[in-house]
Amino acid sequence: MAGPAIFQLGVPAFEGLPEKLFSRARSSNLLKADRLSSLLYPDPRGEFELRREIAGNLSIARNFHCHPEQVFITSGYSAGLGLTLRVLGLDGRKAWMEEPGFRVTRKGLELARLNIVPIPVDADGINVDYGIETAPDAALAVLTPGQQAPLGSTLSLRRRLQLLEWAASTDAWVIEDDYLGELQLAGRPAPAMASLDEGKRVIHIGSFSKTVSPALRLGFVVAPPELANAFAEVAATLAPAPSPVIQIATAQFMHEGHYIRRVRRLKRIYSSQRDALAEQLRMRNAEWVNAGLAVLLRLPDGAPDVRIVREAMTAGIAPSPLSAWFANPSWTVRGLLLGVATAPEQHLVKSCHRLFEIIDRHCR
Ligand SMILES: Cc1ncc(COP(=O)(O)O)c(C=O)c1O
Repeated sequence: MAGPAIFQLGVPAFEGLPEKLFSRARSSNLLKADRLSSLLYPDPRGEFELRREIAGNLSIARNFHCHPEQVFITSGYSAGLGLTLRVLGLDGRKAWMEEPGFRVTRKGLELARLNIVPIPVDADGINVDYGIETAPDAALAVLTPGQQAPLGSTLSLRRRLQLLEWAASTDAWVIEDDYLGELQLAGRPAPAMASLDEGKRVIHIGSFSKTVSPALRLGFVVAPPELANAFAEVAATLAPAPSPVIQIATAQFMHEGHYIRRVRRLKRIYSSQRDALAEQLRMRNAEWVNAGLAVLLRLPDGAPDVRIVREAMTAGIAPSPLSAWFANPSWTVRGLLLGVATAPEQHLVKSCHRLFEIIDRHCR
């Protein structure tokens, strides 16, 4: 099986897949007939064991205390977003979205017929003042407050409180895309924004794509208590939880402490890969900053980041062009996002050499 390309974003370290642990969990007791027969037509909200493990982990790792009854298991963030948009039913209304921001979210909002209002992002996260000034009547804000995708900034406490106050006073909803959860390389992760939400306007969406594997297609939504019945109804009819077998294997994986150990191990691997990459960039006098699980390499004005990536891909190197994360052409900034999870140290020197050759050729 082919692994990810060097610097590819959005996938965990290839060597780190917990295949053995999963096959052990699966063979140990999941496939026993008595176990599966009790699962005929499983709970569409998801297996209770997994919902309980997730609620437990959120309270420790994200300082967010919720009840398993509020947790809904989904096929990753994407399906969680779909479920949430279906429940909220905000067709035709405005939605704030980070600029630059995650393409899947943009497409999801468009498909749900929301009118997207791009809101700029800076070192303190999404610019809430700008949102309130530009679209105070929006019905929804979707954001990545923990580590902004793709720039990596954490939404400041002042802006978190300001956003929640706006949402409470206008009855707007906030979707917190917590795709990296506690997987943060520098410093202690800020608590989930939902932990501050006394007005109960925040719908928190998590994913196992980065912390375990995107191949699981597993994520979850934590709904405010007053929306739990509406979520249950939509889950039962249009968006039931994925395979119970995978859910129970994941619940066991968490219960036995493998999940916490895996996140710790990934942090160690990624930090050392990031440091080695930083060293290569320093040696080349490149201009760069940390950006979550990536490093943002700045390019000279007007550099064709998309063309550079297209050429790099033919050499098995796949950074993400920053310009592709923007919707508003006049705000677009160019650069290359180099994923650190997929930058194993043994390939770094050669990959950086090749990448800089390509950049030099395009920026001459
Ligand atoms: C901003 C953002 N949200 C969510 C996800 C995870 O999505 P999913 O759980 O559907 O794999 C990603 C993955 O790349 C992401 O970049």
